[in-house]
Amino acid sequence: MSDNLTFPPGFIWGAATAAYQIEGAWDTDGKGESIWDRFAHTPGKIAGGDTGDMACDHYHRWQEDVAHMAALGLSSYRFSIAWTRVFPDGGAQPNQRGLDFYRRLVEALNSRGIAPAVTLYHWDLPQALQDRGGWLNRDTALRFAEYAAFLFRQLGGEVPLWITHNEPFMQAFYGHGTGENAPGHRNPWEILTVGHHLLLSHGLAVEAFRAAAPRPASPAAPAPQIGIVLFIWPQHAASDSPRDLAANSVVDGSMNRLFLAPLFADGYPDDILRHFARRGMRPAVRPGDMAIIGRPLDFLGINTYTRLINRAAPRDLLSGARQLPPHGPTTAMGWEIYPDCIGEALRKAREYTTLPLFIAENGAAFDDVVGPDGTVDDQPRVDYLRAHIAAARRAIAEGIDLRGYYIWTLMDNFEWSKGLGKRFGLIYTDFTTQRRIWKRSAHWYRDVIARNGLPQE
Ligand code: FCB
Repeated sequence: MSDNLTFPPGFIWGAATAAYQIEGAWDTDGKGESIWDRFAHTPGKIAGGDTGDMACDHYHRWQEDVAHMAALGLSSYRFSIAWTRVFPDGGAQPNQRGLDFYRRLVEALNSRGIAPAVTLYHWDLPQALQDRGGWLNRDTALRFAEYAAFLFRQLGGEVPLWITHNEPFMQAFYGHGTGENAPGHRNPWEILTVGHHLLLSHGLAVEAFRAAAPRPASPAAPAPQIGIVLFIWPQHAASDSPRDLAANSVVDGSMNRLFLAPLFADGYPDDILRHFARRGMRPAVRPGDMAIIGRPLDFLGINTYTRLINRAAPRDLLSGARQLPPHGPTTAMGWEIYPDCIGEALRKAREYTTLPLFIAENGAAFDDVVGPDGTVDDQPRVDYLRAHIAAARRAIAEGIDLRGYYIWTLMDNFEWSKGLGKRFGLIYTDFTTQRRIWKRSAHWYRDVIARNGLPQE
């Protein structure tokens, strides 16, 4: 720790994935249909007509993938469980083969010293529950808590880090507002109710976790912990004009504070509730809900990739803002490369909680190609990662309790509505042959992990 490149001992170096993005095998071994299966099978929803039917075929190739993780030296692997593998129709009847898949994966990770970090929900609701209203139906929150409780009983002690939800913001706003994500609703009036039921389901799952009190597999291991992963993207006003500042505050409020405040500050932010109420939108809060949502956690995970620059645009129904074009080089997603997003997102979280923090996702898509010699030279990703990991190191030097960093993502996969074309992986996936090829960034990250810090430039 004497230099500004080395990380504290025990710092967690990880990579993250999500079930629908990598597993494929969408209807294998009794798996039920999820809203992402339905959405991707609906013509016109996904770029190029891609689906996650095959994705990285991880369901069949998981042993090879775990071997790649071990070769990288990952200290932790964050992945999500497909609810529909475990409870195909979202009901109470478990599917043993689905559960066995995750049990074997968790065992293999633990046996190689890679700590599993399990996300219970990364957007793939059972379609059967969607047919009964999905997250608009309060009952879905109760079903989620039952699903979570079952997994805590089955795998609780083997998994050191449990994550209830990934980015409730995206499920609420992109799943129900813009319709870009499943279930593809374009109805802004649904957003706050969906967001509220997601948060409620989170709180109920935390209660179930405390009740189950899973014990670690070996007495020497630390007790399993539970947290949530939020989307926190820094927001900057396009100018100091009161209109731009106000518009910026609404975007920050909708994306970031709307979820941080109920989890850590006793309720939804007043200014944002008022903003939405003027548009006739209100969360369906019942007495007692906010106490459940605010149940104490063990850690907070943060996904951050860039920043947004907001200008007032009164005609925009939701936020009254429009985003300016990026102020510099971008990734293949069109996202500005802005390494300070790491420090700004961590400081934003710190305004709300002193819990240990993780960067649960950070990374970049570039148009990677396999060269004539069979290698993938993704120097732009190495540069991106280096700058963002350096920002994480600076945050630690400032005193922020950052415990780990997970790269999005282990291998190129199904990038939601953008399909298979946006490559975020450390490992190149050839989607025709399912061959995995380490990119330059994978070799680089292995070195970072081995030295617990950044190499000299
Ligand atoms: C995040 C998602 C993750 C991935 C990255 C690029 O919002 O959680 O699944 O798609 O963006």
